[in-house]
Amino acid sequence: MYLTKEEERIYDGEEGVAKQKAMELLVALGKIYGADKLIPVGSAQIAGVSYKTIGDAGIDFIRFFSDNGAKVSVNSYLNPAGMDLSNWADAGVKNSFAKKQNEIIEIFRKMGINITCTCTPYLIGIRPKLGEHIAWSESSAVSFVNSILGARTNREGGPSSLAAAIIGKTANYGYHLDENRVANFLVRVRAKLKTISDYGALGVYVGRLVQNSVPAFELVQQATEDQLKALGAAMAASGAVALFFVKGQTPEWFLDSPEIIEVKEEDIEKLKKELTDEKDVDHVVIGCPHCSLDEIKNIAEKVHGKKLKKELWIYTSRQVKEEADKQGYIEIIKDAGGKVISDTCPVVSPIEDMGFKSTATNSGKAALYLKKLCKQKIHFGDVEEITE
Ligand code: F3S
Repeated sequence: MYLTKEEERIYDGEEGVAKQKAMELLVALGKIYGADKLIPVGSAQIAGVSYKTIGDAGIDFIRFFSDNGAKVSVNSYLNPAGMDLSNWADAGVKNSFAKKQNEIIEIFRKMGINITCTCTPYLIGIRPKLGEHIAWSESSAVSFVNSILGARTNREGGPSSLAAAIIGKTANYGYHLDENRVANFLVRVRAKLKTISDYGALGVYVGRLVQNSVPAFELVQQATEDQLKALGAAMAASGAVALFFVKGQTPEWFLDSPEIIEVKEEDIEKLKKELTDEKDVDHVVIGCPHCSLDEIKNIAEKVHGKKLKKELWIYTSRQVKEEADKQGYIEIIKDAGGKVISDTCPVVSPIEDMGFKSTATNSGKAALYLKKLCKQKIHFGDVEEITE
């Protein structure tokens, strides 16, 4: 792998141990994946923020960089943390967890990382351009920016995205190269999809079939951005899809002798039933990936003037929450008894320690992860059904 003189100096430790370690990480990945060189990135998005997922070993890892003076050299953003950073006590988060979580946030802050704590930075104006190389790590965000915006990133891990943020570069392989941005499956969807949960179910179905390949979709009708966000997130969770195309909607559409998959109405219905294990649940979560303003508006309209009998927790970014507050949606949801939570997500917060055993969601990704990682029984359905 070719390194410039400057990169070699960093690799040899002439700019300190933190940059050296970051460079070693990028070069090691580059060698594994056959990269020819490093390329500059426009931004980095760093996962591995929740204390629940990284633990004390993760704190030691990131602290090594900050203690040795590391600073990020490109615009860098954080994935959700393990709690709402200002209202954690209301959500039943324990003091001991909050202390560790705040420690993590301060370490990232010291390195100059923006404390965005969202998996949908593209909903708060962080939208990389077509063809721009970036190093993002949240799988649903990777899927969105690669596919819907046409930016170029691999599914980075927390450590490699942090290394890319510090060096400002990543190894040139995978989805940074034209030859890999080609679909090998053509998915002909013969079903009329209406709701976010329909797209989530389609994503779970197709992700299982194509695993880490690139699918290209022919849909019956145009999908909204929220629906495509749900589709990509579900495929990234049931498989490891990082890039997909939608005919007439995504900026790229390249196919090479694709295998054909047909998806019918009954396939979607069957999968929706399979994702549900229990209809009577303790609580309802919406916002995986984090809700857009439109999604919050839709929920506010559904619960307006009602009194909820079960917990309804809605997850979004801090900025979208502020906007929703200005529009009056947060007050409507609060009056009904619901909560709008920012900075965190249902999967990386410790909901299983808060007494919840069963959860309803409209997200294909959350349906899979809440069962696997948070010991929840699931009711999968659209917003209309689960708020009802
Ligand atoms: Fe976002 Fe958490 Fe879902 S990071 S995509 S809300 S699992």
